[in-house]
Amino acid sequence: MKMDDKDGLPPYSARAQQPPSPWRRQGKVRRSRGLRCLAIACLAFIAFAQWKQLQSSSSSSSSATNPDITTHGLSVKRLQDDLATCGKLRKKPEDPAGPGRDRNARYIDGHAPTLIKNATIWVGEPVEGTSPEDARKGKGFGWISSDVYLEDGLIKRVEPDIALSTLSDDTIVFNANGRPLTSGIIDMHSHAGGAPLPELDGSEDTNEMASDITPYVRSIDAIKPNDPQLQVIKSGGVTTSLILPGSANNMGGEAYVIKHAVGKSDGRNETSAADLLADPDRNWRFMKMACGENPKRVYGKPGQQGPTSRMGESWEFRHAFEQATTLVREQDDWCDAAEALGLENVKGYLPQELRWESLGALLRGQVHLNTHCYTIPDLEAFIDHTNEFKFILRAFHHAHQTYLVPEILKRAYGGDPPASALFADNMWYKSEAYIASEYAGKYLYDNGLTPIYVSDNPVLNAQHVVFEAAKAYKYGLPYHAALASVTTAPAERLGFGKRLGKVKSGFDADIVVWDSDPLSVGATPVQVWIDGTAQFEDPVELAKPAAQVIVPDEDLSNIVEEPALFEDVIFTGVSQVLLTGDLGELKPHGDKTYNLVISKGKMICLGSCEPDIAAAAKSKIPVVQLKNGYLTESFTAFGSTLGLNAIDAEKDTDNGADSSVFSRAEDGLALDTKKLHVSYDYGVTKAISAPKFRGGGTQHGTSVGFRTGAATQLDSKAIFASDVALHYTLDLSAKHGDGTPSLSSAIGALRHKLLQAVTDRNETVKDVYSESAYLQQVINGSLPLAIKVHSADAIAAVLKVKSVVETAANSTIRLFLVGGAESFLLADELASAGVGVVLAPIFSYAVTWDQRRALTGAPLTNGTAIDRLLDAGVKTAIGIDEDWWVRDLGLLAGIAFKNGGGRLGEKQALGLVSENVYKILGLDEPKAKEGHFVVFEGSPLDIGSRVKAVGGGRGTVTVF
Ligand SMILES: *[C@@H]1O[C@H](CO)[C@@H](O)[C@H](O)[C@H]1NC(C)=O
Ligand SMILES: *[C@@H]1O[C@H](CO)[C@@H](O)[C@H](O)[C@H]1NC(C)=O
Ligand SMILES: *[C@@H]1O[C@H](CO)[C@@H](O)[C@H](O)[C@H]1NC(C)=O
Ligand SMILES: *[C@@H]1O[C@H](CO)[C@@H](O)[C@H](O)[C@H]1NC(C)=O
Repeated sequence: MKMDDKDGLPPYSARAQQPPSPWRRQGKVRRSRGLRCLAIACLAFIAFAQWKQLQSSSSSSSSATNPDITTHGLSVKRLQDDLATCGKLRKKPEDPAGPGRDRNARYIDGHAPTLIKNATIWVGEPVEGTSPEDARKGKGFGWISSDVYLEDGLIKRVEPDIALSTLSDDTIVFNANGRPLTSGIIDMHSHAGGAPLPELDGSEDTNEMASDITPYVRSIDAIKPNDPQLQVIKSGGVTTSLILPGSANNMGGEAYVIKHAVGKSDGRNETSAADLLADPDRNWRFMKMACGENPKRVYGKPGQQGPTSRMGESWEFRHAFEQATTLVREQDDWCDAAEALGLENVKGYLPQELRWESLGALLRGQVHLNTHCYTIPDLEAFIDHTNEFKFILRAFHHAHQTYLVPEILKRAYGGDPPASALFADNMWYKSEAYIASEYAGKYLYDNGLTPIYVSDNPVLNAQHVVFEAAKAYKYGLPYHAALASVTTAPAERLGFGKRLGKVKSGFDADIVVWDSDPLSVGATPVQVWIDGTAQFEDPVELAKPAAQVIVPDEDLSNIVEEPALFEDVIFTGVSQVLLTGDLGELKPHGDKTYNLVISKGKMICLGSCEPDIAAAAKSKIPVVQLKNGYLTESFTAFGSTLGLNAIDAEKDTDNGADSSVFSRAEDGLALDTKKLHVSYDYGVTKAISAPKFRGGGTQHGTSVGFRTGAATQLDSKAIFASDVALHYTLDLSAKHGDGTPSLSSAIGALRHKLLQAVTDRNETVKDVYSESAYLQQVINGSLPLAIKVHSADAIAAVLKVKSVVETAANSTIRLFLVGGAESFLLADELASAGVGVVLAPIFSYAVTWDQRRALTGAPLTNGTAIDRLLDAGVKTAIGIDEDWWVRDLGLLAGIAFKNGGGRLGEKQALGLVSENVYKILGLDEPKAKEGHFVVFEGSPLDIGSRVKAVGGGRGTVTVF
């Protein structure tokens, strides 16, 4: 090879004579080009002269004898590679093109085109000509009737009445029969694949905990394509997810956007993480960071390593950014010099360090950063970092407090404020999630910011991420913005705005046909397409009335955060009375719409009530006119830590855990908390809680029934039932109990206690509040025995214990189960043993090993546990395993109602969160007659309902 070969090194800088390359900052180049060319020409001349001199004076010079080595003893090949790397380093990615493509790069040959006929389509953008201001308000958005044609992995046509004769012969036709069709749902915060379900130590790879700062690790190296949860998630219409490293580390590592089509059975080429990538060309990179409680908790070791405080975290961030900044600067200097002087004259190679490479790419604008931060100081510090080190943040995640500080977000570097990736109403689980609002989405949107709803799978089952968006709509976010929050908004933030999130020609053919409006309660996909390929071979379709899309209710955005209290009040326009039990004189009479008269917090008349209303008019009693009013019993929260805890993870606010001792919940009641105020305001005026065994959702001790509106337990009727049931826990946490290292020992210990109670039956009980006293009541059948358990095997063992003890005691034990993910597998056995089930959560998924057989519903399974239990005649109720669910009891009953194929009427569905648990317990329910009722506008089973008034047995009615 000669030095002047086109492949070899030129004797002087060719750069000086070439036009500036496209990746240079044009402005700068233009401003100084003349000067620069001159300088470079001079430098080049000097360098050339030196090189000539060098060559002639040193005949032993390596470059003289070896053309692969420069005068500085550097490899020519490697320098050329380095120069090529300079090009990559300075590349500014753009959002990959959508429209204009002939085929999707992910398309795999051989998949036939598909025509979806007669769909009701949400395009994802307003009609042409809508101004941005109008679009923001939702004008120009709407559902349209059309057909959609998918080919080569793309949406090719969105037009009404596409004639089959214009399409190729192999076209598959799917008739949507007018049902709603949207683009695939995008979940911008998931750990699916990285932490497959059920969670097992061996496959859990969410966080790399070698160090607090690991920007260099990559979630793709942990993704298990065969995680069954990837399929479950897809069954909820989710076609794309951002798979993030966890939030233990301040800098967690690189993230990847995947689609949920895996392997041959989903129409893919291979079963690999690479094949999942939504953009095979990898235009953008992604990264995860986190601030706040986690990093200091996980890494802080006083005197040994930081961070132990938020101050330390900011230092960790800034120190890491400093390293990357230095690397970037050194690289830029090298590249500038190499270009200016020629490779022959550089004295070293391009500085490269894998540890800081990805962070350098972030500083270069090649990485979309997503950062987990909750609180104001975390948000503010991180925005400061963006300005100090000049990088762009795409979204704050878990951004519970962002709604309080829009101005801080607007200070972000780059002028484009980060979006807020949120849960709709999952909060209180730790200190930094204590200040939060279900109205956050609306407040952010009102301030010109972008709410996005995410699952953090497995924290929430990402299958139901669209339910988060639905609740956001319920809590006041405009309908179009709620739909955008799981489609176009995450697509834009991920840099896929031209490919994903819309049903438009040129976009990827990720499509969902729904059985009902996607923001309605229980909305379920009928079929899902990814890159134009149908994903479910034989999807289960629920029997539902013909789908009707929601007419957005703008009233939902009028939020009443400070309700009024009245002793006396009248409601007009009650159109549905769904009270249960004997109403006596309150039995509604007269017209189809009733008036409801309340005096001293109690219902005194339901009907036309003319005399009461005439009297009320004189004494100026307030009248509330309802739009489609519903009157129901108030709800009961069963099995939560309500009344025993204010912030889940904070010891000081918690009653504590009784893994080794017995206690009564009544002795630990701590009332007047935020959780209880919210419960009350959402119509949950009664709660039955037991002390915690170990973690949340576990119980040990006797439960207490109390009013959520009580200030202390000395309030009148604060406690409506003492020692409701005796609770034990036999889920996975049972293996950690005192003296019960195994599940077998835990089951054995329970049997032993019960048999001991039989033996001790005739002994005088010294302490009537002791465990042995309650065990006596259990074996004589006067106190229910509640077992928290999920696994069908453990349930089988418990049923045998019941039978053994019953024989010994010659009595019937009133056993019921709490949890019950796999209880449906023994539905008939439970029915014949008279054992009820409080499903907690109602919709389990395989999050732990003992829940792995949970049914996740259509289109994958025919029904869920509740359908099977009801069919078998098992008494069933809905319980709460995490306290934040308390806002959603009506909606959860609504899902059971809408997806139950007619198994339940409206009243029976509401019974799942009210009277059923009392039937299981054999306990009287404090009812509407005693002042416990809720007035809704709209059906509490529907997304558009809202609580208008709550009576909680305290002599007043709260009116919103
Ligand atoms: C799928 O595999 C075939 C055969 O190996 C290959 O030609 C094609 O490029 C692959 N397609 C994609 C999208 O990877
Ligand atoms: C579309 O489906 C709806 C609902 O089944 C039906 O009423 C309507 O006639 C259909 N329209 C066409 C054009 O087939
Ligand atoms: C308890 O006493 C009754 C009669 O007083 C007797 O029939 C029964 O066997 C005794 N039970 C036990 C467990 O000792
Ligand atoms: C079991 O109880 C029943 C009544 O509850 C009684 O008739 C029967 O004699 C008892 N059997 C024994 C073995 O105590």
